[in-house]
Amino acid sequence: MDDRPQTVKSKNGLPSAVRGQKNMNTSSNGLLTTIIIFGASGDLTQRKLIPSLFNLFRKRRTPKKFQIVGFGATEFTNEAFQKHLLKGLKEFAGYEFTTEEWDVFAPNLHYLSGKYKESSDFQKLADYLTKLENNEEANRLFYMALPPTLFPTIIENLGSSNQLHENGGWRRVVLEKPFGTDLESAITLNKQVHKALHENQIYRIDHYLGKETVQNILFTRFANTIFEPIWNRNYIDHVQITVAEKVGLEHRAGFYDSVGVLRDMFQNHLLQLLTLVAMEPPASFSASALRNEKVKVLSAIKPMTPEQVSTDTVRAQYKGYTEEKDVQADSTTPTYAALRLFINNWRWKGVPFYLRSGKNLAEKQSQIIIQFKEPPLAMFPMQTMKPNMLVLYLQPDEGVHLRFEAKSPDKVNETKSVDMEFHYDEAFGKTAIPESYERLLLDAIQGDASLFTRADEVETAWSLIDPILQTWETHQTPPLAVYKPSTWGPAEADMLLAKDGRRWLNEDE
Ligand code: BG6
Repeated sequence: MDDRPQTVKSKNGLPSAVRGQKNMNTSSNGLLTTIIIFGASGDLTQRKLIPSLFNLFRKRRTPKKFQIVGFGATEFTNEAFQKHLLKGLKEFAGYEFTTEEWDVFAPNLHYLSGKYKESSDFQKLADYLTKLENNEEANRLFYMALPPTLFPTIIENLGSSNQLHENGGWRRVVLEKPFGTDLESAITLNKQVHKALHENQIYRIDHYLGKETVQNILFTRFANTIFEPIWNRNYIDHVQITVAEKVGLEHRAGFYDSVGVLRDMFQNHLLQLLTLVAMEPPASFSASALRNEKVKVLSAIKPMTPEQVSTDTVRAQYKGYTEEKDVQADSTTPTYAALRLFINNWRWKGVPFYLRSGKNLAEKQSQIIIQFKEPPLAMFPMQTMKPNMLVLYLQPDEGVHLRFEAKSPDKVNETKSVDMEFHYDEAFGKTAIPESYERLLLDAIQGDASLFTRADEVETAWSLIDPILQTWETHQTPPLAVYKPSTWGPAEADMLLAKDGRRWLNEDE
């Protein structure tokens, strides 16, 4: 029976209008879909997964027949689990919902406690699911909302309890990041999961790809004809990709200290942003066409030599980091990094891509700046003129600005930089942008892997990050810089661009 609410309308304009709409409300084969969440008592489930699934349900986008089973070490009855999730919804959902909506959704939530390393508990899970699915064919989406060290064990246990075999319903596994801690561990992890799963059953999450504004990079480029002809080394001077965080370590200091900013943000999010800016137009939006192009971009970047690492990277730690709780007193873990990368292909040869990200910075600000070249002939006084710039604001205040020069009135030949602006909240309303997990969960249910990273993509990304990590960690080169919290990072990062006669553009300059 379709027990989803009848009255909730989606205010979500862009994605449903443009992409994925034909599949809305389907699980593609009409079977019951069970979503099994490992790590169900954890933070991610309460803050992101359930709020996203509930909102999809309210928008009538979940499969008609669907249920969620939480699995974890914590003991919960179904009722206690539902209560725990409701508490999370009230705190984290970020949207209003009614008691009636919750009352319709809650009976779909079940819980089974068990140990991840105990193979008999997986047989227990298999039996539990079979019973819940009335012994009928069903689709199963297994979501790993827990540390990656547990992935191989869980997948092996799922395999040996015969839960990954597809005969009728599909079987898919969603893997949270981080996928490995270096190239070698990522290759090993890929091998381990490939023992039990085909690549097309694996959905590796990078939540940045679920962000509307990140998908909008492709729409800006390929749904318009005006940008693509100038999207190359003939017109673009350089590209800046910034993912600045105002927050510090929050409650993850122990984890973060063993990882650092390069593994936490660059191997995945920043390199993904770079691929979307730099890739060639794919022949279609299919998962393989899109991901082939992304892999090509990553493969066109040469891994850095140790010398390049010392000149083209900056690693830094905010002042006071080592005094934080759960951080080693002598830790050299970087909380900020800046890189200068080149893509060695016809389109981008010689155009620097500057990437930076850090914690405890002045503002939360994720943006991509495409800085165009100066006009070839200086007919007007250059001191008042700035080069054209396209800024993709990813968060907050999502939107796009195009900066160009206009003649200042009542002056002979002065110009002023002005912006053409698009803001999501003005164009689509304040609540238009959904949580990125909504889109990713829906895509995984619908079998669309285009916004998930493929095995070769993850490994190629690691092959770029590995040499940097090795030089940083083995040779401590370049020296660890220090920056004051609530600033835009260390002076060394400014130097990285200054050497090229450029500078970072912060906020709305
Ligand atoms: C996560 C990182 O992947 O992304 C966190 O592990 C970081 O350290 C977070 O804070 C940033 O995500 P967002 O969506 O807030 O930009």
